[in-house]
Amino acid sequence: MKKRILITGAKGFLGQYFVKEFEDEEVIPITHQDINLEDKNAIEKITSLKPDLVIHPAAIRSPDICEEDPEKAWKVNAVGTKHVAIACSLLDIPLIYISTDYVFSGGKDTPYTEFYPPNPINLYGKTKLYGEIFTKEFCKKHFIIRTSYVFGEYGNNALTQIYNSLKEGKEIKLSNYHFASCTYAKDLVRKVKELSFTNLYGTYHIVNKGIITRYDFACKVAEIAGFSKEKVIPLNSETFKAPAKRPLYSVLRNYMLEIYNMDDLPYYEESLRKAMRLFKK
Ligand SMILES: NC(=O)c1ccc[n+]([C@@H]2O[C@H](COP(=O)([O-])OP(=O)(O)OC[C@H]3O[C@@H](n4cnc5c(N)ncnc54)[C@H](OP(=O)(O)O)[C@@H]3O)[C@@H](O)[C@H]2O)c1
Repeated sequence: MKKRILITGAKGFLGQYFVKEFEDEEVIPITHQDINLEDKNAIEKITSLKPDLVIHPAAIRSPDICEEDPEKAWKVNAVGTKHVAIACSLLDIPLIYISTDYVFSGGKDTPYTEFYPPNPINLYGKTKLYGEIFTKEFCKKHFIIRTSYVFGEYGNNALTQIYNSLKEGKEIKLSNYHFASCTYAKDLVRKVKELSFTNLYGTYHIVNKGIITRYDFACKVAEIAGFSKEKVIPLNSETFKAPAKRPLYSVLRNYMLEIYNMDDLPYYEESLRKAMRLFKK
């Protein structure tokens, strides 16, 4: 029998990938217009739809917007997730919450495993961490999925933004001193789907292999697309300016997947080439 899978943020970048990945099940795609998650009535609205599983990527994902509008960030990322988690606990169904590498401070120089304590340094990370805390507090059957710098062939994301700018001959300026993982949306949703069929609840890091700065990533996009890298300008700690502080090193290791022999995430370049195979110069 098909499962009823409610997906929040269904028109967002990752939401669209989840909707597609689960199309062989009965998907209930929920947009901001359908249910405002900040509103406490969201609990009843979700329970009335009687899903068997909830996937919850809806969030304010921009660190700078969170820094500039903390109340919005707390309401959506933390309290909104609390409402989703309470609904899942009332229905006694699993919740898959999508979280971020930004829950870590970035003070390390080796990859973060799921066993390292989070300590966020910006509002985005703090509010997403509270989303994790509420998920654990209210919903026993949970998966917390931490991922990083997600890219894909469609939707508003780093790859499409960089590719379109380069195609239009625009200059792009990106940090070359914050080190992180990156993740192909299709690899991520495939692995989340695999986990969703198990009862191996808990926290998981899901990223592609390899370490990048935003600048490295854009250079690789230029190289694969056959564009000149001249328009990609590296920024350093003196020249990078943004409202939100970023962790200097937030590389994730898929340690729980390794332990379960489930870590088949490819190196990012292989996945990036796949994502870009239909792109034209
Ligand atoms: N993209 C990345 O690189 C990345 C990296 C690490 C983790 N993540 C996590 O992955 C998740 C998905 O990110 P994304 O890139 O897909 O973000 P996105 O494209 O901005 O999508 C987020 C969605 O959430 C919806 N939303 C915002 N406020 C809402 C509210 N009050 N009620 C209901 N829906 C609301 C938005 O709808 P409206 O636009 O209509 O408001 C939007 O469709 C987030 O939780 C993010 O923290 C993303």
